Amino acid sequence: MPVIGKLVVVGLGLIGGSLAMGLRQRHACREAIGVVRRPDAGRKAIELGVVDRVVDDLSAVAPELGEGDVIFIAVPTLAVESVLAAIRDQVSPAVTITDGASVKGSVRSAAESVYGQSPAQLVLGHPIAGSERSGVTASNPDLYENHRVILTPLPETGAVHLERVRALWQAVGAEVLDMSVEEHDQVLGATSHLPHAIAYSLVDTLAEDIGNPNIFRYAAGGFRDFTRIASSDPVMWHDIMKANRGAVLDSLDLFIDNLTRLRAAIDREDSEYLLGIFTRAKAARDHFTNILAKRAFIPAMTTGKIDYLLQPGGAVTGTIRVPGDKSISHRSIMLGSLADGVTEVEGFLEGEDALATLQAFRDMGVVIEGPSEGRVKIHGVGLHGLKAPKKPLYIGNSGTTIRLMSGILAGQAFDSEISGDESLAKRPMDRVANPLREMGAVVDTAEGGRPPLKIKGGQALKGIDYQLPMASAQVKSCVLLAGLYAQGTTRVTEPAPTRDHTERMLTGFGYEVKKDGAVAELTGGGHLTATKIEVPADISSATFFMVAASIAPGSDLTLTHVGINPTRVGVINILKAMGADLTLSNERTVGGEPVADIRVRYAPLKGIHVPEDQVPLAIDEFPALFIAAACAEGETVLTGAEELRVKESDRIQAMADGLTTFGIDARPTPDGIVIQGGTMGGGEVETHHDHRIAMSFAIAALRATQPIRVKDATNVATSFPTFVELAKQTGISLEVIDH
Ligand code: S3P
Repeated sequence: MPVIGKLVVVGLGLIGGSLAMGLRQRHACREAIGVVRRPDAGRKAIELGVVDRVVDDLSAVAPELGEGDVIFIAVPTLAVESVLAAIRDQVSPAVTITDGASVKGSVRSAAESVYGQSPAQLVLGHPIAGSERSGVTASNPDLYENHRVILTPLPETGAVHLERVRALWQAVGAEVLDMSVEEHDQVLGATSHLPHAIAYSLVDTLAEDIGNPNIFRYAAGGFRDFTRIASSDPVMWHDIMKANRGAVLDSLDLFIDNLTRLRAAIDREDSEYLLGIFTRAKAARDHFTNILAKRAFIPAMTTGKIDYLLQPGGAVTGTIRVPGDKSISHRSIMLGSLADGVTEVEGFLEGEDALATLQAFRDMGVVIEGPSEGRVKIHGVGLHGLKAPKKPLYIGNSGTTIRLMSGILAGQAFDSEISGDESLAKRPMDRVANPLREMGAVVDTAEGGRPPLKIKGGQALKGIDYQLPMASAQVKSCVLLAGLYAQGTTRVTEPAPTRDHTERMLTGFGYEVKKDGAVAELTGGGHLTATKIEVPADISSATFFMVAASIAPGSDLTLTHVGINPTRVGVINILKAMGADLTLSNERTVGGEPVADIRVRYAPLKGIHVPEDQVPLAIDEFPALFIAAACAEGETVLTGAEELRVKESDRIQAMADGLTTFGIDARPTPDGIVIQGGTMGGGEVETHHDHRIAMSFAIAALRATQPIRVKDATNVATSFPTFVELAKQTGISLEVIDH
C-alpha cells in the first residue's frame, strides 16, 4: 500500500533522489516526479530508476496535485523561499509540502514572508544523512535506512500533513524525531555546522596561511580524518552559515574561548590543564563511539536492547578472574578525587556504574586519566577543590553513586543535581536525604522521595549520631562522607554489619575512622592523602560462577583474586551451608582488603533456612542464590530480606516470576521467598533492567531442560561488562541477540 500519492522532488540531487528512489522501490508512492532543469540529468534520473518522470518546471505538474500528494523541496537553504513563492501561486492547500534544508529557522522565516504565516500544509524537516558523493546519479534507495530525520512542526502545521511526512520517512527506513525549530538549529549549529566551519578553516589555514606547498604531502591520518567534511558542497555550506548565523556564532565563540585557553595552557606548559581537557574529551568521544555501537547505557529509547539466548545443560570449567569490585571502584574514584595528591588505582571495574561515578567527578573538574586496562590515575583536588558541574550530574543506573555522592555534595559550596535512568528514578532516596537534613543539608527529592536529588550548596553541616533504620552500606557511607565536611563528630550505628569498604578506604587515605562493633565514627575537618589502590575481583560477580559450578554436574572452576572481606562473604557461607564444594586458597591482603582464590566443584545442594545474620552480607547475591535453591533438594526459606524489594528491581518478585516460568514453585513473602527445589524447564524471562536478574537467569540454563531467553540483558554492562565473554569461555552456551 503506498503511504502517499505522488511525490514531486524540487531540486533533484542526492537527497531528493534517494528519497524518491527509496519510496519507489518500496512501492510507498504512486509516482515519483522530478523537477529538473537540465535535460541530461533528467534522462539519467529516469534511466537509473530514481523517478518515473521529470518535468522542467513545477508549473508542468502543479495542476494535477491534490490530497495525499507531497512536494519535497531539496534545494539549498537560501533558495527555499523562491520555491515556496512558486508553490503558493500554483499548488492547492491540500498538497503536503516538506523540505530537507539543514537550517529550520530560515525556512520558517521564508514561509512567513511568502505566506504571511506558515501554512498548515508545510512540514519542516531535515534528514540527517549524506554521502561522500553528490548529485542525482549518487541516489541511493537505502540512504535513510537507520538514519534520523528531524521534523520541526510549527503550531500552524496540520496534523494530517505532519503524519504523512512522518510516514513517508519511516517508509524509507528512517527514525523520525520531533524537535522545536530553535532546538534543531542550536543542536545542528553545534554538532554539524561548527565542525564544518572549523574543518574548512583548518584546511584553509594549512593551504593558505602556512603556505608551504609541500604541506599536504606530509599530512597524515589525523589531518585526513579531521578534514574529510571540508570537501562538502561549498555553496550549501555558505548558505548554512548565513542561515544559521546566530547559533553558529554562539558555538564558534565557545570554541574560540576553549581554544584560547588551550593555547595559553600549551604556552605555560600546564600539564594538569592539558591532561584535563584531553582526558575529558577522550572520555566523551569514547562514550559517543559506544553510543554509535549501541554499547553504552543511554536512555532506553535510543539504545538497542540485547537479549541472551541460552541452550540448556553443560558444565563450567577453567580458571577466570572476574572484573573489579564495584563498591570499591566507586569509592576509589570518590576518595581519590577528594584526596591531596595523585591516587593510582589498579583493577578498576570498567562497568557503566563505576564509569558514571568517574564521569561525575570529571564533570566537577577532577582530572582522571584512564581507565585503561583497569588502571586509573586520579589527580585529587582536596576535600574543598571540587567545582560546580555545568549541568546536572547523570549517573545512569547507579544507586551507589547517587547515595554516596549525595553525602559529598551536601558538603560543597555549590548547588548540584543528580539524576539517573528509569530504574534508578524508582528507588528510595529519603534514606539518605533524611540523615543529611538532620546534619543541616538542604536536599530536595522528587515526589515520593525519589531521584532526581537537588542539593543546595554552602550549608554548614554538623556531626550527628545516626542509628541506621536499615542495614545499608550506602546510607552508612553517605553519612560518613558528609561527616568529612561536618563540624564535630559523626557517628553511625548499624542494625547489622554491612560492607565496610568506605571505613577501610578512608583509613587507607589516612583519615581516622573509629570502629567499635556496630558503631563507626569520624570527625570532620581532616584531609585525605592520595594512595595506591588495588581493587580485588568482585565477589558479587564471582557469585554467578560459584553458583554455576555448584549446580552443573561435571563443573570445576577456579575464580582468582576474589575479594573476601568478612562483610561480603555471606554467599560463601550460604552456599557451604547448602552443601556446595568451595575451597579457598592463596589468602592474602591487598590494599587493606582480604582476597583469595576460590575453587568450586559441583556438589548436590540441599535447601536451607538462610540465617538472617547472613542477609546483609549476601544482599546482592540472592538472585543467584535463588537459582541455587531451585536446583537444591528440598525447601529454601529466606526471611528478613525486604531490602531486596528496593534494589535495581524488586528482586524477590522478579526472581519469583522467572522461576515460576521455569516451572519452579517459588512463593514470594513480604520479606523473602520460599523456593522448592525441582526441575527447571525454560522459557522467556524479564529482567526489569536489573543486571543481576539477567545474569542469574543466564546461569540457570545449566540445569534447565529447555532453552532460556533472558529479555533485555543490556544492563549487565553496569557491573559485569565481560560476563558474556567469561560465560562462553567457561562453557555456558550463550548467544547475544541484538535488536
Ligand atoms: C553497596 C551497598 C548495597 C549493595 C549495592 C552496593 C555499596 O546497597 O546492594 O550494590 O557499594 O555500598 P545497600 O546499602 O542499599 O544495601
